[in-house]
Formats: sequence, C-alpha cells, structure tokens
Amino acid sequence: MERPAILNSRHLLGVAGLSIAEITALMDLAEEYVALSRQREKKTNLLRGRTQINLFFEPSTRTQSSFELAGKRLGADVMNMSVKGSSVSKGETLLDTAVTLNAMNPDLLVIRHQHSGAAELLAQKVSCAVINAGDGWHEHPTQALLDALTIRRHKGKLENVVVAICGDIRHSRVARSNIILLSRMGARVRIVGPGPLLPPSAERLGVEVFHSLEEGLRGADVVMMLRLQRERMDGAFIPSEREYYRFWGLNEERLRLAKEDAIVMHPGPMNRGVEIDSSVADGPRSVIREQVEMGVAVRMAVLDALARNLEREAAA
Ligand code: CP
Repeated sequence: MERPAILNSRHLLGVAGLSIAEITALMDLAEEYVALSRQREKKTNLLRGRTQINLFFEPSTRTQSSFELAGKRLGADVMNMSVKGSSVSKGETLLDTAVTLNAMNPDLLVIRHQHSGAAELLAQKVSCAVINAGDGWHEHPTQALLDALTIRRHKGKLENVVVAICGDIRHSRVARSNIILLSRMGARVRIVGPGPLLPPSAERLGVEVFHSLEEGLRGADVVMMLRLQRERMDGAFIPSEREYYRFWGLNEERLRLAKEDAIVMHPGPMNRGVEIDSSVADGPRSVIREQVEMGVAVRMAVLDALARNLEREAAA
C-alpha cells in the first residue's frame, strides 16, 4: 500500500521552502520513530535495498552519527564517507566527488559542507535525493526540525511560545533555520546577543532583537544557547571568552529570569564556561540530551519521507 506523501520536494535543502503542513507531518512521523527507537527492536525494513551515503566535509558528532543510526534503523545500507581519507585530500572537487559517488547509484545523499549553497549545487548534479546536514552559514534543516519537535513535546505547541535564541547568531546556520521554522509555526522568536554577533539585518528577520541577555531571557519559555562559531569568524568578535561568559554566559541566576518552567536547549557542541554553565547544562531544565534523541527520530522521518517520494517517482 502506498504511504501518504509528506514532503513536496525531492530534496531537503533547507526549511525555508517547507510549509506548515510539511513541518507538522514530519514532526508527527518523527513521534512514531521516537516510540520505535525506545523499543528493544528498533529496526524496520522500510528502506531495505536503499543506499544512503553520508558525506561530511566538516566535523560532526551528533548529525553524522544520528543520520547513520536513522538509516540503519530504517533498514538502508549506509556508507559513511570519510573526507580525510578520500581523494578530496588530493584536490578532487566537491562536484567530482559527488558525481563519482552518484555513479554508484545511491538513493539518498546526506551532505555537510563548509560552503553555503553546497547542498543545493549537489542536488543539481546528482540523481539521488539530497539532504542538507549543514552548509556554511546557510541552513541546518534537520536541527531546526528536531528543535521544534523537542519544544512541541515540552510545551504542547509551537504557536506563541517565546523562544530566546542567544549567543553567536551571526555565524549560526542553526539559528537561521530555527528563526525561519519557528516563526513559520507561530512561535515568538527573540535573538539575543552582542551587536557584532547579530546578523547585520537582524531587524528584518521578523524577530525581536535584544542586546542584553537579562532582557532577552525575561519571560522566555525556551532558552536556546549557541556556541561561538570560531571556525566561521574572520576577525576578533569578542574581547575574550572570559569576558564573554561574564556578560553572555547562561548561569542559574540568569535562568531565573525566564519563565519558571522554561527549558534550556543547545544544539551542541557545548563550550561549558563560555556560553553555558555546567550547572545549567546538566540541570533539571536542560533538554539537551533529549534533543539528541529527537535528532535520530527526525532524521528517520526525513529519510522515510524522501524515500516515499522516490517510490512515487519510480511508480509514475
Ligand atoms: N548540532 C550539530 O550539528 O552537532 P554536530 O556538529 O556534532 O553534528
């Protein structure tokens, strides 16, 4: 029996093109995979016979391992391509690498790359479905989906939930995807950070902008902390990490300004003692480890949704 379509597009390159219905359907499907992943028997064979390649040009712990587990739990053959040991280190271009892998007939290609737009470029050159696992400053769609699912599980909804995204917003693809997705779902998004770490056109993003952590936290339902993305900084954006922690680090005292039942999120990797104190990261309001669990379920949902579209295409 044909399973209902969830995504309208062949690829998942960003959240910018997703409708409310698509986002809701993906989160609903992910809930089913949360339940499956908590069982002793975690596998289905929905993607049996499918080949998934994970091509990561940037380091990753959470995203790469959860895409691998997600594909395996759905029954796909999963190959993790190590860029360090590949011919990329001998000067092969992204496109030549992609076209070479495409010749092996994969069905799903998951890519992380340091350049914004890399996933979209790849999607134009290969015949399989492409999933963006983070491209430069641009987007990290599955992170935003797993964050939304985590919030919905705790707050019961996304509409009118006050989400304070704090820290280095300027260099963060996580912030960008979250701003787009959460705003589309009706959340009230705040961005909170020092001037140099906010995007140049912050006011035009349709969010509330705060230049003081205390002010930004006041009355928030969700506090999402971001690390300093040093790998994307082309200069000195802060005087020192010590100074940054003094004004912008989340500690228990500052967290008391948010709502009593506010949750604390972080996409990881965390820099303890820089943007977040250990007492908060490991404290009772932290849902950081739950975000990791949701990451596997959301990635299963995305792989499943794109595989459904491949089945439709083949049947047409
Ligand atoms: N949140 C996130 O993308 O983490 P990784 O870099 O470990 O994949």
